Amino acid sequence: MIDDSNDKATEATKITETIEEPVEETSSRRNFITWLWRVPVIGAVGAAIWGTQKAYNVHFDKTEPNETPTFTPITAIEVAAVDKLALWEQEDFTIGQGPFLLINTPEAVAGGLSVEGKHFVAFSRLCTHQQCPVELNSDTEAIAVAFNHRTEHPSLVCHCHLSVFDVMGAGEVVSGPARRALPRVELELRNSTIYAIGLEIAS
Ligand code: FES
Repeated sequence: MIDDSNDKATEATKITETIEEPVEETSSRRNFITWLWRVPVIGAVGAAIWGTQKAYNVHFDKTEPNETPTFTPITAIEVAAVDKLALWEQEDFTIGQGPFLLINTPEAVAGGLSVEGKHFVAFSRLCTHQQCPVELNSDTEAIAVAFNHRTEHPSLVCHCHLSVFDVMGAGEVVSGPARRALPRVELELRNSTIYAIGLEIAS
């Protein structure tokens, strides 16, 4: 009589392996699917944290302009005759490659120049958010509607992401994603002409 017990054992092992393989595959697929649903959840949590951080920065992490700014001296640049600008008129000028503007304001502004009963302040025209040019907008209703900021006097506005800078508040950000005030320019009167003689150092 032939002993076939070894053959039967080998056969049984093969059958066991054949049965176990799909079980492993099913298990790893299940693990994969289990992880797959976590991807959007992790993405959503990450986006929520990012959004919260941004919102905090926009609303609570804005720097206020210094009442007594520090300026870096520059080679004096002639800007405008002291009697050239009417109230709230502006004069554009450049320092290096940068655009700036001088504004005649109704009252003294911190870091500005007051001479002969007139008041002037000058700012960089590059928005402190992402460097788009700002412009002086005298239409306070348009500022309220388009920039969601109510003001009683002209303001410097940025059309890229709707930041608003308060001229009378020394360039302070009063609305939008920008967080730093517009840098000011040190002004000086020489023979009835206003000169730019310094640039504000960020505080
Ligand atoms: S560049 Fe001015 S608000 Fe973004």
